Amino acid sequence: MRALVTGGAGFIGSHLAERVLMQGHQVVALDDMSTGDADNLAHLNDHLGFELVKGSILDAALVDDLVEASDVAFHLAAAVGVHLILNRSLDGLRTNVHGTENVLQSAARHGTRTVLASTSEVYGKSTAPILCEDQDRILGSPLVKRWSYAEAKALDETLAFLLFSEHGAPIVIARLFNVTGPRQTGRYGMVMPRFVDLAMRGRPLTVYGDGSQTRSFCHVYDAADGLIALAEQPDAYGGVFNIGRPEEVSIRELAERVIRLTGSASTIRYVAYAQAYGDGFEDTMRRVPDISRARELIGFDPALCLDDIILSIVDEFRLSAWARSGGGAARPARPRAARSGGGRVR
Ligand SMILES: NC(=O)c1ccc[n+]([C@@H]2O[C@H](COP(=O)([O-])OP(=O)(O)OC[C@H]3O[C@@H](n4cnc5c(N)ncnc54)[C@H](O)[C@@H]3O)[C@@H](O)[C@H]2O)c1
Repeated sequence: MRALVTGGAGFIGSHLAERVLMQGHQVVALDDMSTGDADNLAHLNDHLGFELVKGSILDAALVDDLVEASDVAFHLAAAVGVHLILNRSLDGLRTNVHGTENVLQSAARHGTRTVLASTSEVYGKSTAPILCEDQDRILGSPLVKRWSYAEAKALDETLAFLLFSEHGAPIVIARLFNVTGPRQTGRYGMVMPRFVDLAMRGRPLTVYGDGSQTRSFCHVYDAADGLIALAEQPDAYGGVFNIGRPEEVSIRELAERVIRLTGSASTIRYVAYAQAYGDGFEDTMRRVPDISRARELIGFDPALCLDDIILSIVDEFRLSAWARSGGGAARPARPRAARSGGGRVR
């Protein structure tokens, strides 16, 4: 099987590429390197079944060639991260609407099985205790920049669904909930690597608002396995599936837990949303996925708990600090999650 991974040099894309290769398939990663990093794929470069194509999903001809040559496509390329969406909103909107349109139209034209990475952001400000796929969306004004990401992803979902229902395109939608783990960068506002980095440097952990907003974190190994399983299940096409881990944690508790697990002396600093993101910023207060639909169809059952997730990132930071120091001191242990197999590979 030949798989295309758009956004393959990114956080989730690089793990996904690795896992598909481990199953004995070929992988072509397409990435414009805007938030991705070739280092994420450096260990795959010598693999005969792997190829990195530097280019954009906005290049319709390139996308069409790559999708046509693939048996399956994982569409992960997108402008992501609160900072990026707020600071480069128009570019982000174009990528997330037109880039995705290119990928999905090609998938429909060539009948290529495709998994579209969507997001829990589409649920918007819903405070439902648990979010199931058929939940109504509650979004702020289209003129609030923050929602442009959710708007674009929702439009992508609608396009995927219509291409399936009107043209039989084999596309499945995965709504990802706060996927995290090694290789995620805190540069664009992702909370977990940012907290671990600050804790390990003994700096205050910055919590926006009062920290009562909750999230549910899922390890990237589990999420990648879920995406692969969705691609392999024809009954999933035309459907939408939450992919996440339903353990709810407030951002305040998360900061405390990171401090405890790193043994850090860091404190917690609370910063008003307006100071962090400017006036009028709206956050989502609660986000817990109902994963029963994915559990029933593909047996999705994330293996790694929140402590495992945090520790896998801590281990990664320790390993890279050790490598930067020239490797003089004793080498830190291999990451715990990797040692335990990191979930299942189907
Ligand atoms: N990480 C999460 O918690 C999460 C949650 C919900 C949804 N998602 C979705 O998962 C996907 C992957 O996200 P991630 O967390 O790995 O972020 P990421 O930024 O690491 O990955 C996105 C990748 O897309 C690439 N890219 C951006 N614009 C491109 C373009 N025009 N052409 C080609 N490549 C382009 C970037 O360089 C990057 O490598 C995205 O679609 C995102 O919306 C992620």
